[in-house]
Amino acid sequence: MEKSSPTKPFARIAGIGSCLPEKVMTNHDLEGSLETTDEWIVSHTGIRERHVVVEGQNCSDLGVEAARRALDDAGVSAEELGLVICTTCSGDYANLPTTACLIQGALGAVHAGAVELNSACTGFPYALGLARGYCVEHQTPVLVVAAEVISRLLDWSDRSTCILFGDGAGAVVLTPSETPGLVDEVLGADGTGGGVLIRQEGTRFPRQGNAGPHFIEMNGKAIFPFAVRIMERVIRDLLERNHLQLDEVQHVVPHQANRRIIEAVARHMEVPLERFFLNIEHVANISSASVPVALDELYRSGAIRKGDRILTVGFGAGLTFGGNLLVWDK
Ligand SMILES: CC(C)(COP(=O)(O)OP(=O)(O)OC[C@H]1O[C@@H](n2cnc3c(N)ncnc32)[C@H](O)[C@@H]1OP(=O)(O)O)[C@@H](O)C(=O)NCCC(=O)NCCS
Repeated sequence: MEKSSPTKPFARIAGIGSCLPEKVMTNHDLEGSLETTDEWIVSHTGIRERHVVVEGQNCSDLGVEAARRALDDAGVSAEELGLVICTTCSGDYANLPTTACLIQGALGAVHAGAVELNSACTGFPYALGLARGYCVEHQTPVLVVAAEVISRLLDWSDRSTCILFGDGAGAVVLTPSETPGLVDEVLGADGTGGGVLIRQEGTRFPRQGNAGPHFIEMNGKAIFPFAVRIMERVIRDLLERNHLQLDEVQHVVPHQANRRIIEAVARHMEVPLERFFLNIEHVANISSASVPVALDELYRSGAIRKGDRILTVGFGAGLTFGGNLLVWDK
């Protein structure tokens, strides 16, 4: 295809959508099968319920639905897309084919490339950062979908892990723009710390017979202080790089892993908790879909005005961390 010279030097979010499975699992539902209580889960995490898929419902199904809603919101057709980026760590297949390809195919995005990106729960800030460059360089709409079905990767007898997660998908459509909608990103990793959240489902672990998929193993206690420290650092880096104070940012949309983590970040930064958007109570941790689902909920609530500055911030397995600075332009 002939390369066109960039005419619009920036990218913006032109559309956003999300999809949560209909089935809701409350903490009370878990009391029957686990030695836990609604009171413990709420007081230690802020979570009351999560959405989970039912049999026959898959990661790509949630991703396709979120993508359709985002395309609709943007007024962009699937045929116009130049690239589909899917971020997931719980895709339909282990790797092949990628969930990005399943989504591209189901949408009929016939002119788009499709690529999967996995930086665990930090997937969305990473994808948005990378999509920004492609959108501008190729002057094309780019779809970023974050879709997760973590419920199928959990040991439902491990009470310190399974209570934390839920399923869902969020998507945004980026289009080239005259003014900066996606302003900046901070992306980082500490690959020496990956042992605290792993899933032994790779070529390092050859299958024994017909054993089923391995479950997520997590040392939540070790992740907690990392999460607090790194979220504060990402926020401070984004502010400093862009010569901003936090009170010049209208919305902070953090990865929803544990309400107490976000409370601790607010405390350390000496800002009211209200500066952070929270929806963990009814969605739990949806891994990479957490930030776009929260952003979509905030947008649908009418709280975001054109021109508002928004910070996203996340962390995840790997270990990874990152965030974006956006100016809402729709
Ligand atoms: C997992 C997490 C909720 C545990 O909370 P915590 O306050 O650190 O709790 P602890 O691990 O200290 O456990 C305290 C006690 O509660 C128990 N407990 C753990 N889960 C429980 C549950 N669901 N219900 C009841 N009791 C539970 C523990 O067994 C422990 O009991 P003990 O003292 O008899 O050994 C918390 O550490 C956390 O959220 N960490 C971050 C995880 C994360 O963000 N992961 C995703 C990364 S993207």
